[in-house]
Amino acid sequence: MPRLLLCCSQQPVQCTLSHFSPFPFPCSIPSMAMAFLVALALVSVLAAAIAWVWDHAVVRLVWRPYAIGKELRSQGIHGPPYKLVKGSNEEFKAMKEETDGLVLDVHDHNYIPRIAPHYLKWRAQYGEPFLYWFGPKPRLCIFDYELARQILSSKSGNFVKNDPPTTLLDVVGKGLALLDGIDWVRHHRVIKPAFAMDKLKFDISKATADFGHILQTTMVLLETLRLYGPALFMQRKTVTDMTVGSMKLPKGIAIVIPIPIMHREKVVWGDDAGEFNPLRFENGMTRAGKVPHAMLAFSMGPRSCIGQNFAMLEAKSTLALMLQKFSFTLSHDYVHAPADVFSLKPKFGLPIILRQLDESYI
Ligand code: HEM
Repeated sequence: MPRLLLCCSQQPVQCTLSHFSPFPFPCSIPSMAMAFLVALALVSVLAAAIAWVWDHAVVRLVWRPYAIGKELRSQGIHGPPYKLVKGSNEEFKAMKEETDGLVLDVHDHNYIPRIAPHYLKWRAQYGEPFLYWFGPKPRLCIFDYELARQILSSKSGNFVKNDPPTTLLDVVGKGLALLDGIDWVRHHRVIKPAFAMDKLKFDISKATADFGHILQTTMVLLETLRLYGPALFMQRKTVTDMTVGSMKLPKGIAIVIPIPIMHREKVVWGDDAGEFNPLRFENGMTRAGKVPHAMLAFSMGPRSCIGQNFAMLEAKSTLALMLQKFSFTLSHDYVHAPADVFSLKPKFGLPIILRQLDESYI
């Protein structure tokens, strides 16, 4: 049954369903006024549609990429050209497919060509930092430690976490790591005390009590985290126009901090940056590189890893327990192909051969 009776003839019609009408006037209203209202409604819908297309198609897909590219070029920052809607995605995918099958020698710690060939290529081609396009969204990949320090330690609230991929949100939900603003403050205040060092230490001190190689183990773990840290590419997004150092960053640009690349910079880590050398940490984390904040495995500043002490203590206590009973070596079946699956993972697993210290195999 129709809920609405429109009056569209010259003669007013008798409305039998007037109590159902959503309009606050009787159906006998002259048809001109009715037509005017309908036209007004259509114009508003059309205006909203035009505004949506303007914002989503013209501004986001064309104007903004053009304006941001121009602004950054004027600061000497270049990068792969923006392609409508796709940005740099196709170039990235093609490079990734090409290197995805690469398998490394087990002593080769340089897996960057496997996981981030695009960053290596664009850095070599356009210098640093460079600008690329995740679809229509601008991303600035930086390699400078001082710039990274300023961004990560900023308490202004103007650098927020970049929008996480929905696939990640589905897996981990919106927990502390992905919150910002007052929500982050509230969650952080509740969670932080659970990770207090004295509480954590109490739990593991028994496990490591008779294990005498804590310092060496710490050095080995830190060097492993330098070369094989699970966190790969940290991202922040500006919520307003910002100036960092001499660089002007427009609102909404994402900044990528490529940890594994920065962890291999020879100017910071020395000529042996690509080698596994735990001794570089013998004087502590802040003296391992040429800048005190060279180690970014747990990030730095207010959003640094809340679980870092827990992770280190847990790794040490697990290793302590294992080394008291077993020795272990890498299986010959191991294929060295670190992969980026949200975090760094061994693509084909990590088979290990354990040997009980009384020499019998298990
Ligand atoms: C070796 C192990 C770990 C590494 C290398 C690591 C690394 C990191 C890094 C780099 C960040 C900063 C991410 C960013 O700013 O985008 C982070 C944040 C965080 N991590 Fe870890 N993490 C580890 C283990 C853990 C563990 C065991 C927990 C909890 C039990 C944890 C909980 C968190 C949380 C909650 C944040 C977000 C902190 C915040 O935004 O305030 N992490 N982690």
